[in-house]
Amino acid sequence: MINNVLYCGDNLEVLEKLEKESIDLIYIDPPFFSNKQYEVVWGDEAEKRSFEDRWEGGTEHYIGWMKPRVQLMYEVLKPTGSFYLHCDWHANAHLRIMLDDIFGRNNFRNEIIWSYETGGIPQKDFSRKHDSIFRYSKSDRYIFNSKEIEEKRSDEVLRRIASGIPGAARSKGEYRHPSDVWRIPSINAMAKERQGYPTQKPEELLERIIKVSSIKGDIVLDAFCGCGTTMAVAHRLKRKWIGIDISPIAIKLVEKRLKKIGTIKSKHYETIGLPITEKDLKKLKPFEFQNWVINAMEAKHSKKKSGDLGLDGYLLYGELFKKGSAGIQVKQSEGIGRNVIDNFKSALERANYKIGYLIAFSFGKGAYEEVARLKNKGETDIELVKVEDLINKKWKAKNE
Ligand SMILES: C[S@@+](CC[C@H](N)C(=O)[O-])C[C@H]1O[C@@H](n2cnc3c(N)ncnc32)[C@H](O)[C@@H]1O
Repeated sequence: MINNVLYCGDNLEVLEKLEKESIDLIYIDPPFFSNKQYEVVWGDEAEKRSFEDRWEGGTEHYIGWMKPRVQLMYEVLKPTGSFYLHCDWHANAHLRIMLDDIFGRNNFRNEIIWSYETGGIPQKDFSRKHDSIFRYSKSDRYIFNSKEIEEKRSDEVLRRIASGIPGAARSKGEYRHPSDVWRIPSINAMAKERQGYPTQKPEELLERIIKVSSIKGDIVLDAFCGCGTTMAVAHRLKRKWIGIDISPIAIKLVEKRLKKIGTIKSKHYETIGLPITEKDLKKLKPFEFQNWVINAMEAKHSKKKSGDLGLDGYLLYGELFKKGSAGIQVKQSEGIGRNVIDNFKSALERANYKIGYLIAFSFGKGAYEEVARLKNKGETDIELVKVEDLINKKWKAKNE
């Protein structure tokens, strides 16, 4: 039976469809109100992609966006369930007030401080070295397996307890009740668990949350699941899970991550909502669309610094046939005209490609004529590829 589901879509729409009061534990790490744009390294290919994490309309707009989503999460949570919201200083005060409104102040349980070492060193401020994780319950009947995540006392405290210094600790023993300050290193460049996703959180953090607030067989939901840290840990701890993310890139990464966990097979989970129609693809952000096309063609992304200006990707199949590689340009539009072909031809020449693939939803008459003219003159060989043919898997690279 399939218990685990990955949804690609806006969580506002997906949450509507989930059964009310069916989830035991929710963890979310939503995009922050941070007015900055990340330049990030995607996957193995080391290409830079911009990762938008900013809100034009200010805090009010952000909270107005978050509130209906969290309200739906509240509704799908069981009366015995727990809820964790991960955020940083940018909007934490506002989010806390919003959560008090939804869950009720009485159900606020903790503000967990996740303390880490990474981050900048401001000239005239303290360095910011923590995130906040707000923990709420839906009622006073909630799970708290404190024994599962007891913390080892420091050597200094153990020494004091041993020497009988009064007040060294309220209870004896090597381990103590977990506190609300968690020192866990953030994901570093060399970490084994690193997936290359910009905002990836450490598995150790999720492990504590899942262990303390759920039991085996429970259902864990992450409605902003990114590259699937919650899914990977929930699976390892024998919980069922539901992951939602609006980004097809993220969902593909989760699938890749799950594949690597030997014990989970594709029959154990289902992926719903990855873009499959032209309508879906037209709605994607430009870099998500580009990524979809490059994957569908089994091509590679252009490396930003290689001088492939104007080209979005390339195919290496040509190397096998000693004919030179092919350059790719992706347009998320209809009715491509002659001028686009001419610009593409120049870009191909600059990068020394003999073959070019231009991908779009449709092409105008002028584009087809220009491609034929170039071919007749023995110049660059350009093929116009319709997105429709990629969807239907009708397209094949030349010479394959
Ligand atoms: C801060 S990241 C989460 C990272 C995650 N905790 C991890 O360890 O990989 C926030 C995620 O929310 C997703 N997102 C943004 N808006 C969304 C929406 N409306 N519905 C679902 N996911 C959304 C983004 O695509 C991004 O992957």
